[in-house]
Amino acid sequence: MTDSPDSKNTSAFKHKDQYYRDYLQLDTILNAQHMVSSEPGNIEAHDEMLFIITHQAYELWFKQVLFEVGAVIGIFSQENVAEKDVALAHHYLNRINRIMPVLISQFDIIETMTPGAFTDFRSYLNPASGFQSLQFRQLEIGLGLRAAERREFGGQTFHSRLDQRDRDAAHKATEHASLLEVMIKWLERMPFLEHKDFTFSEALKNVVHEMYEADRERLRNSDSPADGIQQQLDQIDKTEAGFDALFDAEKFEALRREGNLRLSMRASHAVLFIFLYKDYPLLQIPYRLLTQLIELDENMAIWRFRHAQMVSRMIGSKIGTGGSSGHSYLIMTADKHRVFTEISNISSYLIPGQFIPALPDGLAKKLEFNFES
Ligand code: HEM
Repeated sequence: MTDSPDSKNTSAFKHKDQYYRDYLQLDTILNAQHMVSSEPGNIEAHDEMLFIITHQAYELWFKQVLFEVGAVIGIFSQENVAEKDVALAHHYLNRINRIMPVLISQFDIIETMTPGAFTDFRSYLNPASGFQSLQFRQLEIGLGLRAAERREFGGQTFHSRLDQRDRDAAHKATEHASLLEVMIKWLERMPFLEHKDFTFSEALKNVVHEMYEADRERLRNSDSPADGIQQQLDQIDKTEAGFDALFDAEKFEALRREGNLRLSMRASHAVLFIFLYKDYPLLQIPYRLLTQLIELDENMAIWRFRHAQMVSRMIGSKIGTGGSSGHSYLIMTADKHRVFTEISNISSYLIPGQFIPALPDGLAKKLEFNFES
C-alpha cells in the first residue's frame, strides 16, 4: 500500500526508450475529435470542437479522480489500516480536491460558446447526453450514492439511457464497497471510545446535559420578555433532543430505519470524538481526512450547481437531450446527491471547548506521540 522507496525493485527501472507521442498515445487521443456537424449534409459548427474537447478533458480528469477514489477505497478495505496509510489516503483525497476546482472552472471555457452557437449543432447530438457518462456514474457509486437516494426524472433513472455495456459496468460498480461504506467500517473500529471505566458517549452526555441545564437556569433568571425566553427554552429542548438521539440506540435505529442516516451510532460517535479531540497528534490525520471528505462532497455539489447554471444559460428551460427536465432536475441533484452530509452535520453536536470532557491519562497518552530516547 505504501510507496516507500525501500520497497522499489530496481529492475523496474529497466525500460525501452520512450517517445513522447507514443508514450502518451497522442495519435489516438488527438484523432478522437470527430465533429458530427462536419459530416456530409450537415452544416459545420465551429464550436462543436470546443464542445467535444471540453467533454473529453472532463472524462480524462474523471478517470484520474476514479483512480484516486479506488486507491482510497483499497486502503480502507484493509482490516487494519496503518497510520501511514491513512496519511496516504489523505494525500489522494487532497489531490482529488485540487482537481475538482479545475473541473468546476472549466465551465467558464464552455460558456465562451454562445447559446446560439450551441443551437447550431445541438440537434446533431440527440439523444446523447451527460446522463450517459459512465465514469461520472461510477464516481457517484464509488463515493457511496445509492440508487434509492437518486432523484428520478419522469419515473426513470439514468440506467434507462445507457446501452447494455455501460449498464453492466454501472451495475458492476455497485457490487464493490463504496468509499462511504469502508469509511464507516473504519470509524466503527476506532478503539478510543472506551478506556477502562471511561465511556466517551456517557462522559459527553453528562456534560451536554449540564451545559443545557446551565443555559436554562440563565434564561429563567433573565429579565427578557417571557415569550422570548420560552422560545429559547423550546429551542434548547429541541437541540438537546437531537443530542439524545445521537446517544440513544433505539432512537438512533429508528432514524436509520427511516433511511435518514447511513452512519451507525458508533461511527457517528467516532466522528464526533475525532472532531472534539482533533488536537491530539494521533487524531490529526483522521481529522484532516474527514475534512477532505466534506470538501469532496462540497466540490461535487459545486460542480453540479455550476453545471446546472451553465445548462440554464445554454438551453433555458428546454428539456435535456437525455430526456430530463434539464436545469430543474440538475439543480435538485446538487444538494440531494451529497454523500458525506452526516460527517459535516456532526458540527451540530460540537460544544464549546470548556465543556469537552477531559480524557483519562492513559487514553490521552495513547493519542500523543510517545518515544523513548
Ligand atoms: C452546452 C453544454 C452542456 C449542456 C447544455 C448540458 C446539458 C445537460 C443536461 C440537460 C443534462 C441532464 C440530462 C439530460 O436530460 O440530458 C446533463 C447531464 C449531465 N451532464 Fe451536461 N451539459 C453540457 C455540458 C456538460 C459537460 C462539459 C459535462 C462534462 C462531463 C457534462 C456532464 C454531464 C453529466 C455527468 C450529467 C449527468 C448529471 C446527473 O444526472 O446528475 N455536461 N447535461
